[in-house]
Amino acid sequence: MTAKEKIEQLRAELHRHNHNYYVLNAPEISDQEFDKLMRELQNMEEEYPEYEDDNSPTMRVGSDINKNFTQVLHKYSMLSLGNTYSLPEVTDFYERVRKALNEDFELCCEIKYDGTSISLTYIDGKLVRAVTRGDGEKGDDVTDNVKTIRTIPLVLHGNNYPKEFEIRGEILMPWTVFEELNKEKETREEPLFANPRNAASGTLKQQNSSVVASRKLDAYLYYLLGENLPADGHFENLQIAHQWGFKISNATKKCKTLQEVFDFINYWDTERKNLPVASDGIVLKVNSLRQQRILGFTAKSPRWAIAYKFQAEQALTRLNEVTFQVGRTGAITPVANLDPVQLSGTVVRRASLHNADIIEGLDLHIGDMVFVEKGGEIIPKITGVDTSARFMIGEKVTFITICPECGSKLVRYEGESAYYCPNETACPPQIKGKIEHFISRKAMNIDGLGPETVETFYKLGLVNSPADLYTLTTDQIKGLDRMGEKSAENIVSSIQISKNVPFERVLFALGIRFVGETVAKKIARSFQSIEELEKATLETLIQIDEIGEKIGQSIVNYFSNDKNLLLVNKLKEAGLQFTRTEGSGPLTQKFKGFSIVISGVFAHHSRDEYKELIEQNGGKNVGSISSKTSFILAGENMGPAKLDKARKLGVRIVNEEEFLKLIM
Ligand code: IVH
Repeated sequence: MTAKEKIEQLRAELHRHNHNYYVLNAPEISDQEFDKLMRELQNMEEEYPEYEDDNSPTMRVGSDINKNFTQVLHKYSMLSLGNTYSLPEVTDFYERVRKALNEDFELCCEIKYDGTSISLTYIDGKLVRAVTRGDGEKGDDVTDNVKTIRTIPLVLHGNNYPKEFEIRGEILMPWTVFEELNKEKETREEPLFANPRNAASGTLKQQNSSVVASRKLDAYLYYLLGENLPADGHFENLQIAHQWGFKISNATKKCKTLQEVFDFINYWDTERKNLPVASDGIVLKVNSLRQQRILGFTAKSPRWAIAYKFQAEQALTRLNEVTFQVGRTGAITPVANLDPVQLSGTVVRRASLHNADIIEGLDLHIGDMVFVEKGGEIIPKITGVDTSARFMIGEKVTFITICPECGSKLVRYEGESAYYCPNETACPPQIKGKIEHFISRKAMNIDGLGPETVETFYKLGLVNSPADLYTLTTDQIKGLDRMGEKSAENIVSSIQISKNVPFERVLFALGIRFVGETVAKKIARSFQSIEELEKATLETLIQIDEIGEKIGQSIVNYFSNDKNLLLVNKLKEAGLQFTRTEGSGPLTQKFKGFSIVISGVFAHHSRDEYKELIEQNGGKNVGSISSKTSFILAGENMGPAKLDKARKLGVRIVNEEEFLKLIM
């Protein structure tokens, strides 16, 4: 046997054992034997790099090469589902479908898995790319990370699959893995993941695929897309996809009557608690693809499917105390401190009380037994009081009137439900929060500094405002928080480098109320310099697109405060960019992270003009097609070799008109 044949044999064998173990739950060999085969393959691949294969089972172990994700345009938009929360709403859906079709139909009932969605493209039986949902139109190419998920086949079984198709599903972190991971994080004093969904999506966005490999993610596939699917039934197609090697949920049932649908929902409402992964509802899909096409889509979701969301799980526990936190903007958040209670798989100790009106509406008293709920949000909330359990009435919970941090009298701005501490320039959490915002990635992007370091610098009186950062020296900070000389040098140097950050981001970094990234960009394009902006009146400001009275007034207020002017002056002296640099930076970020190939001849613009349009929208024009290409902008007469390569790699081809629509 030649080396090439041996490698191929090992690969085929490992693919088969992998599928037996992870998808079928029926291993034929021991873990040790499996590892031995894997090592044998790894060794041979190292020895014969000429036989490299992107879909080799060795890809499962990941690599520690860091990379940023490129963005890819979805061939078919990734829509979401309409939600229902009650059985009468399910009946409404059923009736709508019945009327629209006016013929018999079946519904495929499935579990709604609560993870992060993924779109996989297979060409000639091989996984060519995996893309996250992103904004539904474009997502991140996370192929290398997805390849480490053992339940996702890299090479398909059999030969009756379409030449090219997409399959979508949910990537999940099983409860047991989630709990283990959080336990490890706790011992390392790292922030915990709020739920398995966040853990799964956070893991998928890891830059280091060997970390992904270690996190033991799982995946269920539930939606096939393509031109030549084997059957007309969605359910039937999924069963066939199972034979190709995909993991399909067993909890999938075809139903003819509404009663059968209700029975399915009721059964899984309790049974889901025994599933190894999180689920948040049931999905109902019209089974026939022909009927699906008749029903079609609205702008946001298919008319042939709907999600039924389970009632959020509730727990009853005691309210011990209400504390008030002051945020970066001075907003006061009331937090309920509770007796620890188990809720949807995690222990809850604190819950949000949102605002003064909500506290008042609940008529809360200390010691009350309260209902806690975890909806879609990460932070649980209190939804009610069990007044029947109130035999001793505690002190009534009222909203504070004085800032707990600095003693200023709180204010409530018109039209807002939150209370604020107005002492923007001297209230400690506001100062620290402003510095944290200033150094954040989208603002000045100063590496090596985080909330803890800011806290230390502030406590020691080294940094009282963002301007103080620019006078820090290595000698002042080395040794603090176990910081070595090298780290201290790095911090000081990244502070110095931040002086090159363009005007628009400096404006954003100032943390003016209501001036987010986009508004900051608009302002930077309308004013030559900060001096011009300082002088601007409300009338001038509201003439700028998307700047209304609220934002305009906030900007005027900011520059009427002497302390803010002093800060701006100090930053100016430090050398930050307070004037606009012409032509710097893209106009939009529509193609941020995109690598785009231009090919062929065009009718509306020249190639150079298209190159410029790509750059103006934040993208990069690259010369040759690779698996990292986000899409190809193709004119007439694109060469057959290029076309073939694009097809093999599953890269989407976008024509001139489509492209112009994208940037409209
Ligand atoms: S079908 C066009 N089936 O729910 C319809 N989605 O709000 C495509 N999800 O983004 C989705 N389990 O991430 C479908 N069995 C299932 C699902 C499911 C979970 C997620 C999916 C989607 C979201 C819809």
